[in-house]
Amino acid sequence: MITHFADLALHTVSLEGVRQFYNGLLGMPVVFESDKEIRFQVTPFTTLTFTEAYEPVAPAHFAFEVPWSAFSDVIAYLKETAGIPLLRWPDGREIAEFDEPGSGINAYFRDGDGHLLEVIAHRYVREDVLPQGGPLKVLYLREVGFPVEDVSEFRGWLSGRFGMKLAKVFDDFTFAIGGTAHAVIASKQRRWIPIRMYALPPNMTVTFGVSGRHTLERIRELTAGEPILSSGEDELTIMRNDYRIRFAATDVPADIAVRLNLP
Ligand SMILES: [Fe+2]
Repeated sequence: MITHFADLALHTVSLEGVRQFYNGLLGMPVVFESDKEIRFQVTPFTTLTFTEAYEPVAPAHFAFEVPWSAFSDVIAYLKETAGIPLLRWPDGREIAEFDEPGSGINAYFRDGDGHLLEVIAHRYVREDVLPQGGPLKVLYLREVGFPVEDVSEFRGWLSGRFGMKLAKVFDDFTFAIGGTAHAVIASKQRRWIPIRMYALPPNMTVTFGVSGRHTLERIRELTAGEPILSSGEDELTIMRNDYRIRFAATDVPADIAVRLNLP
């Protein structure tokens, strides 16, 4: 049903600042620009949008999946070529392995608004299925963080309505997974690693790609009763847990997770 994150829209206090960071340093092409908004192409299927707003920016958390075999190249690019400092764990590490040794690796950094970005790689992900975008070689936007009051309520909604699979289920944390999209549901009381950053709820619109218009019609039925912000032939935007959640019909294959060998 849900195949991927098609867009993540965040606020910024400087369009020029995000242009310098995402285009200038991370090498993401600009695909749209107005006096209030800028949009970057992260992969052929995913964009990142920033809207300038005269208000404090609550930092979002999001993660790019990069190829396992290229992880050290990506880190070298970030640190040496782009000159972006990686965040450190309290013990001084910049790069962490997780799950079983040799299966997953990640690192964190921040943009000019303080959004918390992550590059993450898993050994099991097939590297020949999706194109590798730009100098970060992004395969897909894997994670978007949703700080919420009630983790079990939000994960119940995502899994019950849209069949998202749940992983790492705790009282204050859960992954809800649809295709390549991992919604990181975190309690507002839980801080983001590795710098123990307060998880303020960001002002964001998260677009879930769904496989085709027939699936979008099914989503309309499944979200009946939710407050609708906009509705069109190829999209539906609702409000849920103070987040704008958008569903867009795309042509990403419904079995993308299987093709990529995701568990
Ligand atoms: Fe993360």
